[in-house]
Amino acid sequence: MSMRGAGRVLRLRPSRAWATVYPRSFSTAGARFQDGKSAAEERTTHFGFQNITESMKESKVREVFDSVAKNYDTMNDVMSFGIHRLWKDQFVQQLNPGKKSIFSEPMTILDLAGGTGDIAFRMLNHARTVNGDSETRVKVVDINEEMLKEGVKRAHALGYRTEGEDAPISFMVQNGETLEAIPDNSIDLLTIAFGIRNFTDKEKALSTAHRVLKKGGVFACLEFSKVNNFILDQIYRRYSFSVIPMMGQLIAGDRDSYQYLFPSQKDFAGMIRDAGFQLAGKGWQDLTFGVAAVHTGVKL
Ligand SMILES: C[S@@+](CC[C@H](N)C(=O)[O-])C[C@H]1O[C@@H](n2cnc3c(N)ncnc32)[C@H](O)[C@@H]1O
Repeated sequence: MSMRGAGRVLRLRPSRAWATVYPRSFSTAGARFQDGKSAAEERTTHFGFQNITESMKESKVREVFDSVAKNYDTMNDVMSFGIHRLWKDQFVQQLNPGKKSIFSEPMTILDLAGGTGDIAFRMLNHARTVNGDSETRVKVVDINEEMLKEGVKRAHALGYRTEGEDAPISFMVQNGETLEAIPDNSIDLLTIAFGIRNFTDKEKALSTAHRVLKKGGVFACLEFSKVNNFILDQIYRRYSFSVIPMMGQLIAGDRDSYQYLFPSQKDFAGMIRDAGFQLAGKGWQDLTFGVAAVHTGVKL
């Protein structure tokens, strides 16, 4: 494990530090939290259909992804019948990462809640093969070190260096709500795919995204959303409220965290605007009748 700035950059060398890289946000000794509040005083939030305290949610989200990290990519394919790959491809193609001419600068991209690197690898591949740009770099940031460790392995298998200032891809443990190690106005493109639903405080995450982006920088979010076709909505509801939680139970031993409540496209676009972003048009584009949607905003 090594440190770069205040953030923690992951290296694939087993170390005792893995276990301590991210302290638990609440103490299990008694029901008192690190900030001294009692459980009763803590604000509550959704976790699946349960109401739990905000600190417990962060910890539970970390536990869930700890347990699924090794099977996460397979599980995604099984649960979405591989469709997540098409959505991710489309997401990246539309964002068209990389420098577009010899006069422009390579991009610094931050893939938030980047997990095992699915979006980041597509970004690098697109920048290289479509825009002929091998200087654009991607920082994969996630709260869960186990997910990132899988990402580091994948990066090495693809031949990417992950260490050093000029590494095309780097992996860093950070809470996306604060991104303490990421300076203000330093990122050209901030992406988040299937991550925002896990955040305890989505408004805080959006205003942090706004802080770290440069002027003119783009925020782009790919997430499950509200289906806009009646028949498909009925089918999808059955699938997402029964089959997906059942698979979550079978594969990850956890049912609750696979039952998500999503804000509607319009509500989420409003949250992005409230964080200070300028929306292009209505601010989102539906994928597969709104099963998923891409929201974008620009920092002016
Ligand atoms: C469903 S996975 C998505 C991973 C990847 N973006 C993809 O599309 O394959 C959600 C990720 O969000 C991460 N996550 C949840 N809460 C987070 C937070 N507060 N800050 C950073 N990452 C978080 C989880 O650890 C997990 O890796």
